[in-house]
Amino acid sequence: MSEKKRPVILSGIRPTGRLHYGNYFGAIYHFLRLQEQEAERYYFIADYHALTTITEPKGIFEQTLDMLRTYIACGLDPAKSIVYRQSDLPCTAELTLLLGMITNIGHLERGTTYKDKFSQLEDNPKVEGNPLSYGLLGYPVLMAADILIVRADQVPVGDDQRQHVEMACDIAQKFNSRFGEVLHIPEAVSRNALRLPGLDGSSKMGKSDNNTLDLLDDPKTALKKIQGVPTTTDPLPLDTDSNEPEMVIPKMPPGVGVLYRLLHLLAPEDVYLDFLGKYRRGEKFYGMLKKTLAQYVAEFNAPIIEKFHAPENSDDFIKDFLRDNAKKVTPVALETVEGCREAIGIGHSLYRA
Ligand code: TRP
Repeated sequence: MSEKKRPVILSGIRPTGRLHYGNYFGAIYHFLRLQEQEAERYYFIADYHALTTITEPKGIFEQTLDMLRTYIACGLDPAKSIVYRQSDLPCTAELTLLLGMITNIGHLERGTTYKDKFSQLEDNPKVEGNPLSYGLLGYPVLMAADILIVRADQVPVGDDQRQHVEMACDIAQKFNSRFGEVLHIPEAVSRNALRLPGLDGSSKMGKSDNNTLDLLDDPKTALKKIQGVPTTTDPLPLDTDSNEPEMVIPKMPPGVGVLYRLLHLLAPEDVYLDFLGKYRRGEKFYGMLKKTLAQYVAEFNAPIIEKFHAPENSDDFIKDFLRDNAKKVTPVALETVEGCREAIGIGHSLYRA
């Protein structure tokens, strides 16, 4: 067979339940585009990873189902990708354990997720629970196992996750140099993700900041949220002739900037330009801008809401889909784990087929 092997793409998604526009333009949109590429695609819901920040034991499974339903409603084609739950591939935990044996603690302490939590705790020692767990420190090892277990070629991630993918490459290289060329070294692929500001004008839309516009918001909810965007500041001069959102939006008051950012993403170019003209001329138009934007949001959300609630997108469908995909990925993963067991010296599992 001289045919070129299709590249293996892998990415993980943390189960956060309801999805918002920040998730859509930061990640979902890119996943949909990758569907058009000739490749083998593995996407998994990182439910083990979710446990590193869990404060309540309930709900991760329900959130996983809801989130997948939303992905499918947005256009993720179940026939084009293998989507599974991380915990349905428990040999990932076994590989994590093996990789953990060769990973230095010092290396992990430099991980961004761990470092952030560590400094948060220094600022505020009374944080609830035990945020500095062994699991949190090991977050990058688990992530390395996710990536290496399916022998991924490309790992598309946002900038915040790049370091973790690089750590996965380091761990794999170290394993290979000690025990032989067993693991396939991937490359991180930047997603060039757009970071959407929050409806409160803050720099990031995020579930925990309560400033999100959601994909399942009905028209009334969307309008109410958009009307609440702070626009009391007078327009600031744009001092540029450019109409590019990257050029003009940072010069606007934050709340107004969010409205224009969304309008640019959702409305035809001429509508965006028309409102930009009004801004430049200093007209009073914020009420109109908010109403117009809310209409585009309603149009964008309508088909997603409809597909989300469609009878074929049921819990049973999602569960069957996850089960079938876990069956497909398991032999691929087990081959890697068995190869590592052999290389590290404990030999193949005696009971696994
Ligand atoms: N840590 C990633 C995030 O928070 C999710 C994730 C887990 C992941 N394992 C991965 C992403 C492996 C890419 C590859 O978004």
